[in-house]
Amino acid sequence: MKRATNLLNVATKSRNFGKIRQFSSDPVKASGNLAMEPKKTHFGFTDIDESEKEKKVHSVFANVAKKYDLMNDAMSMGVHRLWKDYYVGGLQIPYNAKILDMAGGTGDIAFRLLRESPTATVTVSDINQPMLDVGKERAEKERDIQPSRLEWVCANAEEMPFESNTYDLFTMSFGIRNCTHPEKVIREAFRVLKPGGQLAILEFSAVNAALKPIYDAYSFNVIPVLGEILASDRASYQYLVESIRKFPNQDEFARIIREEGFGHVRYENMTFGVCSIHKGTKPRK
Ligand SMILES: C[S@@+](CC[C@H](N)C(=O)[O-])C[C@H]1O[C@@H](n2cnc3c(N)ncnc32)[C@H](O)[C@@H]1O
Repeated sequence: MKRATNLLNVATKSRNFGKIRQFSSDPVKASGNLAMEPKKTHFGFTDIDESEKEKKVHSVFANVAKKYDLMNDAMSMGVHRLWKDYYVGGLQIPYNAKILDMAGGTGDIAFRLLRESPTATVTVSDINQPMLDVGKERAEKERDIQPSRLEWVCANAEEMPFESNTYDLFTMSFGIRNCTHPEKVIREAFRVLKPGGQLAILEFSAVNAALKPIYDAYSFNVIPVLGEILASDRASYQYLVESIRKFPNQDEFARIIREEGFGHVRYENMTFGVCSIHKGTKPRK
């Protein structure tokens, strides 16, 4: 139930709200196995050493940050707004919730969370400072957003700089497929959630087979061209469409979430599986 709140109280709960915290992430250190044969992963359809992925993904989002919101509208013809509204509208947000929006980018989910729950505070975290900078600027311009209810933290989802058992809700929208080890992200989400806390992840998924030819034709022929025209960056948008195809399908991703200890794991498809929402609960004991 939504209740009115004393925003000032919420704002003063943490000294960090309204500020930016920065945690550097070293992709080479993160890979941790330099002496051995480098492990391989994918960057879109290209096989690369695991240690390279984080840097490459970083440069994709650093390049697109300023045009990111415009491109989202253009690529999805505005539908991403409906997906995000539905995703946030379906969350159970407790009173005075502490929420972590990981890979929060330019704040699309965080702003919706604040509007949905007048008592919540949101930590928006992302590995990419340029994306957070755009988000922070937006927060200052949006009239109904109180910047003091937001905290901006530059950090890697695979090694979160947050204390264990801290958050009531963990959200991540269109971010996890860009991570080198999605299972590490889920493990970290489990660690930082309080017992009973909720995980909710929105991500592109495996589309219904009947729709696949038309979806593929649109993704591979139109989206990179839009990237070229609107953001002068075809390669980044080529990566984005390829990365969707490399991400585990709905059942496989649900299995990963279950294996990391979450209970009550389920998912819901949107737009014939173009994307899906996965949810789980950290058991109380
Ligand atoms: C497609 S954007 C999504 C942004 C926002 N959540 C939204 O729905 O509009 C993906 C975001 O994931 C971030 N990201 C990629 N890898 C990450 C990682 N390892 N840790 C944290 N954020 C990451 C990128 O910097 C980018 O901002």
